[in-house]
Amino acid sequence: MTRPFIVAVDGPSGSGKSSVCAKACEKLGFVYVNTGQVYRCIAWLLGEWGIAEAIESVICERVTQEVPHITWDMTQNRFLYRGRDLTPFLYAESVGQGASRVAKSAAIRKLLLPLQRHIALHTTKAGAVVDGRDIASVVFPDAELKIFMEASLEVRAQRRLEQLQAHGAEADLEELQEQMQDRDHQDATRDVAPMQREHDAVILDTSDMGFEASIDALVALIRERAKTLGISFT
Ligand code: DC
Repeated sequence: MTRPFIVAVDGPSGSGKSSVCAKACEKLGFVYVNTGQVYRCIAWLLGEWGIAEAIESVICERVTQEVPHITWDMTQNRFLYRGRDLTPFLYAESVGQGASRVAKSAAIRKLLLPLQRHIALHTTKAGAVVDGRDIASVVFPDAELKIFMEASLEVRAQRRLEQLQAHGAEADLEELQEQMQDRDHQDATRDVAPMQREHDAVILDTSDMGFEASIDALVALIRERAKTLGISFT
């Protein structure tokens, strides 16, 4: 059996990755795997367990025990923890900040890696779009297509504000901009698996693109690469 067509999408927070990738997957009949959700899930759980500020070895021990309870809901394309959908708790920028802190740990990243690979490689769909920060460099360095999705900080903060508001959360644009800038800096400068554009990744800058145009651009890039590789899917 041939493996699914893997599209690795990396980029800073709010670059439109999750919404654009999800819709592109609907059009292509691919599975969409948002790896940021696993890091967010861990960050949120650490808070619930009261060990968010604990030393790395304590956090690792607990995460090692709990990782087998993080599963993939194939029908809804989301992670579940002990059968529970945590998505409503994961949107807040504070959870994103926590995820970015957790993501600095090499040990935690190692624990979460097999899960991310497994979901994409064992899909029954023709392909998978996997998004995050280290997908092209670590999770799928052999992806059929690598994309670095970016947009200006102003545009990204505005999009994130609208996303938070849609979930009923309050946020201040300037504060959000500062938080996102700090988080991107932390993600791009950490020692392990930093966010970076791989030399063979195509840049997709969505600053001046509307939502539909961004989806179309991503779908076009995927179809174009598939054609070059002689791979066909509907
Ligand atoms: O994509 P996101 O904003 O939901 O991700 C939250 C944080 O998780 C992000 O700031 C860094 C971390 N992350 C990571 O280090 N590697 C990934 N593949 C995905 C997310």
